[in-house]
Amino acid sequence: MKSILHVNNITKHYPNQPSPALDHVSFHVSQGEFLGIMGASGSGKTTLLNVLSTIDKPTEGDISMENIQIQKLSQAEAADFRKKQLGFIFQEYFLLDSLTIRENISVPLTLLHVPAGRIRSRVNALANAFGIESQLDKYPSKLSGGQQQRAAAARAMVKMPPLIFADEPTGALDSASATELLTALSETNRNLGSTILMVTHDPYAASYTDRILYFKDGSSRS
Ligand SMILES: Nc1ncnc2c1ncn2[C@@H]1O[C@H](COP(=O)(O)OP(=O)(O)OP(=O)(O)O)[C@@H](O)[C@H]1O
Ligand SMILES: [Mg+2]
Repeated sequence: MKSILHVNNITKHYPNQPSPALDHVSFHVSQGEFLGIMGASGSGKTTLLNVLSTIDKPTEGDISMENIQIQKLSQAEAADFRKKQLGFIFQEYFLLDSLTIRENISVPLTLLHVPAGRIRSRVNALANAFGIESQLDKYPSKLSGGQQQRAAAARAMVKMPPLIFADEPTGALDSASATELLTALSETNRNLGSTILMVTHDPYAASYTDRILYFKDGSSRS
């Protein structure tokens, strides 16, 4: 299978820290793969996602995604790259309280100036995939945590980005809601062929992934 992401020997030193948060990390991710990232607290998982998603830069090493060397992008280019190529799911959902669920899921497409009719049909399709079609006209505060997280996942996927990053997406969910989210994520991963990198502490969540990368003190092993 074609590789979509190449991580070559990246190291990340934060200022005034005795040891690097990432220490010569290398791995490849295939297109369509659902990759799990595990490791103790402080082992470098969030730092890795920040560096891969151009929010932060590695101190050394290079990262290429579909032949773009992302650590070389300017700030404006990186912002454009994130807007077009990446989707994000966080532990805290980060839905906008003053927008309905439909409007929240639409935001990434609105920012890309997609026509309203296309937005409507894509939002409907994603809401179906995540089982929240009856929640679309409600505000986030009227939904359960699990429904809010599925809305956040639908928002991450609505523009069909080649890569989706999820940092502890089940961290705030009860086990039934976690199962619903993980099932919908792995189904949309298969159906849309999107590539997902998911950080998790939970072996049950990790069991939904194709492969796991373990981090210890900033180093990785498969
Ligand atoms: N902005 C920062 N400035 C300085 N040090 C940082 C910063 N962010 C993280 N670190 C340090 O880098 C190391 C890796 O942190 P990171 O947040 O990547 O860990 P993590 O694996 O995501 O942990 P957790 O499971 O608790 O979320 C830790 O030692 C942390 O203290
Ligand atoms: Mg973290």
